[in-house]
Amino acid sequence: MVAKASKKKKSVLVVGGGGREHTLAWAFHKSPQVGRVFAAPGNAGTAQIAENVAVGTGDIEALAKFARSEKVDLTGVGPEAPLAEGIVDRFHAAKLPIFGPTKQAARIESSKIFAKELVLKAGIPTAPAEIFDDAEAARRYIDISGAPCVIKADGLAAGKGVVVALTEEEAYAAVEATMVERKFGSAGDRILIEDYVSGEEASILAVTDGERVAVMIPSQDHKRLKDGDGGPNTGGMGAYAPAPVIDGKMLKTVTETVIEPTIAALADEGIPYQGCIYAGLIVDFEGPKLLEFNCRFGDPEAQAVLPLLQDDLYEVCASATAGNLEFGRFEWQSGAAVAVVAASKGYPGEYEKGRIIKGLDEVAAMEDVIVFHAGTAVEDDKVVTAGGRVLAVTALGVTVADAVKRAYDAMGRVRFAGMYYRRDIGYKAVARSRG
Ligand code: GLY
Repeated sequence: MVAKASKKKKSVLVVGGGGREHTLAWAFHKSPQVGRVFAAPGNAGTAQIAENVAVGTGDIEALAKFARSEKVDLTGVGPEAPLAEGIVDRFHAAKLPIFGPTKQAARIESSKIFAKELVLKAGIPTAPAEIFDDAEAARRYIDISGAPCVIKADGLAAGKGVVVALTEEEAYAAVEATMVERKFGSAGDRILIEDYVSGEEASILAVTDGERVAVMIPSQDHKRLKDGDGGPNTGGMGAYAPAPVIDGKMLKTVTETVIEPTIAALADEGIPYQGCIYAGLIVDFEGPKLLEFNCRFGDPEAQAVLPLLQDDLYEVCASATAGNLEFGRFEWQSGAAVAVVAASKGYPGEYEKGRIIKGLDEVAAMEDVIVFHAGTAVEDDKVVTAGGRVLAVTALGVTVADAVKRAYDAMGRVRFAGMYYRRDIGYKAVARSRG
């Protein structure tokens, strides 16, 4: 007798509550194989397509308990902190399927020194760097090598541990803040001082089962708060895909000279890497160079890349987790996507919360426009702001310029007190298209 194929729909748990996690929940929700999506803790956007679970991303035991009790078929992890804390190891120990790297493998993000030593040994194109565990030695190095240079805290520092120092004074100040004032705690016990490379940045997300790799279309984040890439660094004020700075030929080069050798080097060290790997690159006159790895999808890159993915994200993640990635390459919708982030007044510093967000229903009715919530909550049946980055409006278009126009048309209909967003997301791609 031939066994009857199981038709039971799958359940998925997304760990996190930001824009990237709403995007992951949205993509899983679209899968014909998926019946239930949970988000822990989620936000007001995930609540519309998933069941929010009141468990924080740091409570790994409670997340494992929930996944076991609900018989979750696959857990996907958004942020780096639970990966660096070993959520995948804990789930593996309990035989719970989870998409993401183990604690050891997540060190490609949680230790900049581990990542740099790995890639230098593997001959991956990257800027040379020196390692310091002593502030005085770091200062002496700056005395000799000068500026510009890049000072990187070794550990996780909520995206604030990297300083591009254009002058020696800025470099000394970064060493002081990191190693003497210990602004990032033990994350700054050791630092890297890296040569500065100028060029245009791009992000490549790839999915791997530990051996096979499938890359996604290139994207570009806008990390600075203000138009023209001015103002302080943020978690990301917008993104678009595909980013023309990485053309098809260069993407092949990045795959073959950066991503595949890294996965192979990790495997050689006895650290198989499964999940999404994010390569932050800079393209200069010599070609692409690795700036950093992240051990998860990018935020807000996911909000621009995943809406163009035609493959079933559940199948992608489930097959990678089973060690049998079924995708040599992904299928993409033609055209482009642009995600513009709206933030609360004061972000990335102190900001207000609890402001009512208006216009969401109007935007929901627009074609090829999606609002991905980040810092939002529901209060008295109203969607209110609850974070620094509040939401992203993603629009699809025939070209980046077309998607930009549609994204800003939609963003113009969203309103909340103190709303702030950049007006130039995608400007580098638009300038290229004009020649
Ligand atoms: N967009 C930068 C990051 O996800 O780390």
